[in-house]
Amino acid sequence: MINKIHNESNIITMSKMDSNSVDYVLTSPPYNVGGNGLNGEGKKYDLHNDKMSDNDYLNQQVDLINEMLRITKKHIFYNIQMLSGNMGTGTTAIAAIKEKRKWIGSEISSEYYELANKRISEEMMQTQLF
Ligand SMILES: C[S@@+](CC[C@H](N)C(=O)[O-])C[C@H]1O[C@@H](n2cnc3c(N)ncnc32)[C@H](O)[C@@H]1O
Repeated sequence: MINKIHNESNIITMSKMDSNSVDYVLTSPPYNVGGNGLNGEGKKYDLHNDKMSDNDYLNQQVDLINEMLRITKKHIFYNIQMLSGNMGTGTTAIAAIKEKRKWIGSEISSEYYELANKRISEEMMQTQLF
């Protein structure tokens, strides 16, 4: 489970994680202001509906925050293990690799999942060279 992106919804990834198991959770969620790629109203996201009702969006975020609180340790260690719930293009994984930290990521879009994995492989090759 560690040091890889899970091509699934972050709520599913977190459901497989133990309580108090990560030091740090980072999230960069869609802001629910754009077009919905599913309905052809824009091409911002392929699988995610970025135009939910305010109520659905808020309920989704509350569920996510509750899961984040469940999996986060209640005290901080320096050997940080990080979960990035919306990996996108992989920037947070690359930062974790550079800092030699363990990480876990979720990304629902296959397109971003592939792109992030390509960037991560390139970063890993660089890291092994030096
Ligand atoms: C605002 S972008 C994050 C950008 C990222 N910080 C970066 O540096 O590329 C939001 C990302 O969340 C993904 N996403 C949307 N819903 C998700 C879900 N339920 N689980 C996991 N990822 C999701 C989208 O596909 C998109 O890549």
